[in-house]
Amino acid sequence: TSSALWGGRFAGGPADALAALSKSTHFDWRLALHDLAGSRAHARVLHAAGLLDDTTLEAMLDALERLRADVENGDFVPEQADEDVHTALERGLIERAGPDVGGRLRAGRSRNDQVATLFRMYLREHSRVVAGLVLDVVDALVEQATRHLGVAMPGRTHLQHAQPVLLSHHLLAHAWALLRDVDRLRDWDVRAAVSPYGSGALAGSSLGLDPEAVAADLGFDGSVENSIDGTASRDFVAEFAFVAAMTAVDISRLAEEVVLWATKEFSFITLDDAYSTGSSIMPQKKNPDVAELARGKAGRLVGDLTGLLTTLKSLPLAYNRDLQEDKEPVFDAVDTLEVLLPAFSGMVATMVFDTARLESLAPQGFSLATDIAEWLVREGVPFRVAHEVAGACVRVCEERGIELWDLTDDDLTAISPHLTHRVRAVLSVEGSMSSRSARGGTAPVRVAEQLQRVVATAGDH
Ligand code: ARG
Repeated sequence: TSSALWGGRFAGGPADALAALSKSTHFDWRLALHDLAGSRAHARVLHAAGLLDDTTLEAMLDALERLRADVENGDFVPEQADEDVHTALERGLIERAGPDVGGRLRAGRSRNDQVATLFRMYLREHSRVVAGLVLDVVDALVEQATRHLGVAMPGRTHLQHAQPVLLSHHLLAHAWALLRDVDRLRDWDVRAAVSPYGSGALAGSSLGLDPEAVAADLGFDGSVENSIDGTASRDFVAEFAFVAAMTAVDISRLAEEVVLWATKEFSFITLDDAYSTGSSIMPQKKNPDVAELARGKAGRLVGDLTGLLTTLKSLPLAYNRDLQEDKEPVFDAVDTLEVLLPAFSGMVATMVFDTARLESLAPQGFSLATDIAEWLVREGVPFRVAHEVAGACVRVCEERGIELWDLTDDDLTAISPHLTHRVRAVLSVEGSMSSRSARGGTAPVRVAEQLQRVVATAGDH
């Protein structure tokens, strides 16, 4: 209670139960170094405004530096009585600089503008870490796509065989989604790079402090236009939580495919031992736990976003203590992604595809029926008719237990006079894929170009 930041108007300290409820050091301590950076910048603007003389500034910065070293090596940690990271560090400063010097730093700032600023600094830093880790997953996908250029696989809609596609085309589809997530993080940063320092509790500072100078000192592009908005808004947190959740959801869609592909029934991939787990009872088991955890953790990140938005909903301006609940969800999102993504990229980079199996399954399930229909269209047949005719081919094959390419010339003419033996030219996986050569299609030439663009886009980030 001795280190509470108020006292004057209170006869006694807070009840233990209130102190226990109020406490946030167990999660906001991770902002300590950002808080200290903010304090250094704040000391400098106090000095610039003539509120600290040269000697006091020097003593202050010296004490802050010693405090930083102690925080970094673990010699200074929060005590039972410290309410939050800001309270604890003020105590640490006063312990080092004495109350006369240390007690001057709090002028012209509030924990409200302080925490809003530090939180932005923390998230901006981790947005770069997360972006780098997402790009590692993209790199792993690019590696696999490069290694398997030319390999066909069954493309699916509704999880049913649809049309043959290149394995690389499929893998790069995941890469593009992840590149957009990286793009979202960069775009988010444009809005997050605005400093609330100088907003005070809500109304701004009367002490002639320069918020733009603090902003520049802390690596922001500028300071907020409105001190109420600066202290009360948390859309920067919610938007970050959305991008984190979207990233996890995109990862989970690939994860689900990995789980399926690793089954006996699919047998598309073998996971590396280093990225698989065994069973405590079934000796034969090799489980895709990395992919399953990715799927599971996506739910957790959606929960983080939902919890945060629910906290923000209907909160009146300006600061309300509810806002202390804004941190744990995104800290959890950051921690989760930073532990998940390295394992996930390792799994993707090391999984081994059974390319012969993928190739042999590519034309199964009558996945070339669309090619018959489109061949007929090129022969001048209306698509409505072409669709019927190709469908009839499938029905005949299904009845007789044969494949489309087993239909004889007589079978074909019996189905439709429009069908001739020439249709057989398109009844191959290679023919089907290379015919889809418009921009964005699965034709090998297009996919090779696409691969270059993925690499270039990833390189731009
Ligand atoms: N720990 C608080 C938070 O995370 C900051 C302190 C603001 N508290 C206050 N009573 N004004 O939001």
